[in-house]
Amino acid sequence: MTHMHVAGSIHADVSSAAPVWLDRPTDANALVDGLWSGTTVRGPGGEMHVGGLPVSDILAQAGSPVYVIDEIDFRGRALTWAQAFAGWKVYYAGKSFLSGTIARWVFEEGLNLDVCSLGELTVALRAGFDPARIGLHGNNKSEDLLRVALQSGVGRIIIDSADEIARLERLGSELGVRPDVLIRVTTGVEAHTHEYIATAHEDQKFGFSIAGGQALVALVRCQGSAHLNLVGLHSHIGSQIFDTNGFEVAARRTLRLMSQFKEATGVTLPELDLGGGFGIAYTIDDSPATPADLAHGLSEIIEHECRAFGLDKPMLSLEPGRAISGPPGTALYTVGTIKDVELGGGQSRRYISVDGGMSDNIRPALYAAEYSAVVAGRVTDAPPTLSRVVGLHCEGGDILVRDVFLPGDVRIGDVIAVPAAGAYSRSMASNYNHTPRPAVVGVRDGKVSVILRRETLDDLLALDAGLD
Ligand SMILES: Cc1ncc(COP(=O)(O)O)c(C=O)c1O
Repeated sequence: MTHMHVAGSIHADVSSAAPVWLDRPTDANALVDGLWSGTTVRGPGGEMHVGGLPVSDILAQAGSPVYVIDEIDFRGRALTWAQAFAGWKVYYAGKSFLSGTIARWVFEEGLNLDVCSLGELTVALRAGFDPARIGLHGNNKSEDLLRVALQSGVGRIIIDSADEIARLERLGSELGVRPDVLIRVTTGVEAHTHEYIATAHEDQKFGFSIAGGQALVALVRCQGSAHLNLVGLHSHIGSQIFDTNGFEVAARRTLRLMSQFKEATGVTLPELDLGGGFGIAYTIDDSPATPADLAHGLSEIIEHECRAFGLDKPMLSLEPGRAISGPPGTALYTVGTIKDVELGGGQSRRYISVDGGMSDNIRPALYAAEYSAVVAGRVTDAPPTLSRVVGLHCEGGDILVRDVFLPGDVRIGDVIAVPAAGAYSRSMASNYNHTPRPAVVGVRDGKVSVILRRETLDDLLALDAGLD
């Protein structure tokens, strides 16, 4: 996953060949099945439409760059997860993308919500999300955050450290409340994903280690607490995971711990949360399982492991984020400059610079995440040309789409659309190079609605105490 270049005068990846997974398409205009939100189509003249609107209309109303969320698609995915996992509690992972509107959609589709900061919790509460349906995460929850959570009555707190146990006990005693808590455990599962999004191997910051014995100690301590109501275990093994193998090992290890806890205390823990991490298609190389198949696979795994340990099946929950918020999102950018860069040996690479970049989508720079793209405003017969879509920032790694075949006649002013951009892009956005963050709009039935307004330069300048 790490892209390195050889030392020397050409500071780029010197191979101009496409990566092995990327075939030259016969038609670079095609919207490949499975990559685009449900209402995304090419209209009669070839222009891309989302939510019943041509992209030119969306841009005229919302400006460029902009993140477009297909409401029907978002709600449909949320509901599909809830229905596929009927009998489970499904928590939408708000870190993938949260706003007042999104919280309301999630609530209306009947899901619960996972938040992990004071900001996310405040958005959820201000949006009117039932606190009893909120789960609170975080490896360093501040006293302020825990106070708000306890006072508002959040449904569950997922404890991540011994310090947090002490902090929660003190606050629970002070406020006269006894929250439901789960212990986040580290299962030691090596999820086959990027190191920074794998979260259950031993050497990282989250959770209590099962192998090291800290998880059992934490469980026993919480069980004995007058101020905490221990309800279960939580495990999250990483993100962008495509098979159930990692979950199988995690389920086995967490259920074994439950059975050890039962032996030690006589108490059967009633709940198990398997976290999120279900992969989505960013490129033609990704083929995610359907929620129904996952539900079937995970249920079988849990039933089998429960039988093996002689445990009653616990109440199960999970926390999909990107699988709900990623595919409904499309990023629209406008092309500003085009450059064919000589790589030596007669090879060159086409760099297409757009009006956004790593400030609105850090994932390619952070995790070497791959994306795809098309020219959205028109179709053309120009031959597919291997291209790289880059941003406007002062970093060589400011890449949005590392390798993609775009039509050879891409020109200034063309609209570039990037699919599966709804998760961990705008939610991880920064103001690098004093760049205001783009708007997020919802589209549905031919109408645009603002989800997050575009940040302005004045918003940024207002923070600067050294300016008038
Ligand atoms: C504890 C926890 N739950 C759920 C998620 C959501 O993961 P994803 O969006 O990949 O489903 C994350 C992501 O980091 C997480 O840390």
